[in-house]
Amino acid sequence: MKNIITFGTFDAFHVGHINILERAASYGNKLIVGVSSDELSFNKKKRYPIYCQNDRLKIINSLRFVDEVFVEESLELKLDYIKQYNATVLVMGDDWLGHFDWVKKACDVLYLPRTPSISTTEIIEVVRSMPK
Ligand code: CTP
Repeated sequence: MKNIITFGTFDAFHVGHINILERAASYGNKLIVGVSSDELSFNKKKRYPIYCQNDRLKIINSLRFVDEVFVEESLELKLDYIKQYNATVLVMGDDWLGHFDWVKKACDVLYLPRTPSISTTEIIEVVRSMPK
């Protein structure tokens, strides 16, 4: 049994999110996703998500290649979550390159290339700039 763990806010769900979760799942038998809480998302991105954490959790949990979800309360708890969920690989997008190398004592860390030209921030900007 190989448990894969990954983390993110996954707000305004888009194909870049699907791609990383699908690829993460392909590295093991079970995919566990830590969905960042509203407060943690605010700390990371300096704005609150559009969708609240319960809705983001519900969306991620409904994907066929996701086996388990939980709320990620803090970036500093990565190691605790990895141990708690018995993860053997941590997968992150390469916008986080090098950032979580400190958990390599507990599991492998893989940074996968982001899907180009899409992000929640960009979607928000596009919608904002649409004529009324
Ligand atoms: N991700 C990705 N490709 C994208 C966008 C996101 O692979 N085009 C990955 C990130 O690298 C991360 C996960 O999806 O591992 C969750 O990212 P998140 O920050 O929630 O999504 P973004 O669209 O990057 O959000 P924002 O624009 O608000 O920073």
